Amino acid sequence: MQVISEISALRQQIRDWRKQGEKIAFVPTMGNLHQGHLSLVEQAHKLADKVVVSIFVNPTQFNDKSDLVDYPRTLEQDLKYLELAANDMVFTPTVETVYPNGMQTQTTINVPKITERLCGAHRAGHFEGVATVVTKLFNMVCPDVAVFGEKDYQQLLLIKKMVSELNMPIEIVGAETHREDTGLAMSSRNQYLSTEQKHQASQLYQELSKIKHKIEQGERRYDDLSQQARQNLEQQGFNVDYIEVCNAHDLELAQPEDKSLRILLAAELGSARLIDNLACNLAG
Ligand code: PAF
Repeated sequence: MQVISEISALRQQIRDWRKQGEKIAFVPTMGNLHQGHLSLVEQAHKLADKVVVSIFVNPTQFNDKSDLVDYPRTLEQDLKYLELAANDMVFTPTVETVYPNGMQTQTTINVPKITERLCGAHRAGHFEGVATVVTKLFNMVCPDVAVFGEKDYQQLLLIKKMVSELNMPIEIVGAETHREDTGLAMSSRNQYLSTEQKHQASQLYQELSKIKHKIEQGERRYDDLSQQARQNLEQQGFNVDYIEVCNAHDLELAQPEDKSLRILLAAELGSARLIDNLACNLAG
């Protein structure tokens, strides 16, 4: 497995692979890899001949600077995992490589509408930072296909919209959320939780599942369902940012006639901000 941090060396290898007719898949990450990331790599292997994983903790998507400082950096362990996952190349650029002119006057990508609600309403500038760095990484790696986790569902949709509207020749594939046995969605942020909190955090998945079940049983008062779940979680000690039943395509609040739904939430438990979501597809 090659580990490359210079754009020129990355481009040279990508050119060589292309000359050999290889299809290239890309999995962007911020490192601190867990089974969820590795399942993205596995999916990428099924879609292409060569897989590139990037590890870059992107400063511009952290609205809270102490969160950026504290973000776990575990490169050595990440490389071991990727080696075992038969990954072909790891791209580990520095901040200076990604932002050669600094971050203050940086050209940015703003994906309107889809980024305004939910996490966008609670994390100023976050999605602009994500869209900008993903564009940069796409321009560096030039992949045929890129895989993103459905756990960050709003992120996945904004990347799809951006790629479509900016005519980027890249297929975007969403991969199912990887969960602990308790239902807790795997996340780098779970390590901010104590063992007891980890157990408690599985409540998030349980509340999402309850809402899904009630909708499948015919309930259409989505606001009531969300309010009830919020109350349950707050009683358990969560600080809930949002819990909403949305249209799965545009993330606007779901209407009773919508068939393709996504239930999304974000809540704080101790010092960890956790997000999760569940699909709910109605027949007809
Ligand atoms: O999902 C993430 O880990 C990040 O938002 C991403 C896509 C790697 C961009 O920094």
